[in-house]
Amino acid sequence: MSIIEGLRERRTYYQLNKTLPIAETELKALVEETTELVPDAFNMKSARIVVALGARQDTLWDEIDAAFGGKVAREKIDGFRAAAGTILYFYDETVVSALQEKFPLYAANFPVWANQANGMLQLALWTALRERGIGANLQHYNPVIDERVKALFGLPDTWKLIAQMPFGGIVAAPDPKGKEDIAQRVRWEK
Ligand SMILES: Cc1cc2nc3c(=O)[nH]c(=O)nc-3n(C[C@H](O)[C@H](O)[C@H](O)COP(=O)(O)O)c2cc1C
Repeated sequence: MSIIEGLRERRTYYQLNKTLPIAETELKALVEETTELVPDAFNMKSARIVVALGARQDTLWDEIDAAFGGKVAREKIDGFRAAAGTILYFYDETVVSALQEKFPLYAANFPVWANQANGMLQLALWTALRERGIGANLQHYNPVIDERVKALFGLPDTWKLIAQMPFGGIVAAPDPKGKEDIAQRVRWEK
């Protein structure tokens, strides 16, 4: 797939299962190479990810359920738990604060850039997974789940949780999106 075809196929897939169309070794290589290829401000490499698979995937969603104490419908949680895995996206605040000290004039920008770079990584992985026939969606149960996630995976306190991306075999495709009037959002000036 070309990048534009990949972007066309990337959608929010909520109905996922645990059967991946590629081997775990290929998944690992894909996730690691994509993470290496995505840029970051000052090349600071602030993004961190944890990929929960197998039993860790199920425990993660049980912990998320527990963090909300029943306030999120169990069937919604079970929908995400039914996926093969979840990519947890973070940025490392240690990296950000080191750059803030080094370049005080830009101090306020570094957390923004870390978030932007994280968004780039999220889109790149979302698209790369879809290219391999894997569906995904993007969730934000942070910050309510932050402490439980750190405890579950033994993560440093400085890893700031940004997003959760369940992924898996595609059970059902989303409805097609309507064509928008893109001229409302993109202007050309010459
Ligand atoms: C920054 C960002 C945050 C999002 N947060 C959520 C979320 O918390 N829960 C969710 O179900 N979808 C979330 N989405 C998915 C969007 O609702 C979805 O991408 C959008 O409606 C377009 O649909 P599509 O992904 O099928 O193209 C998020 C998407 C982006 C880019």
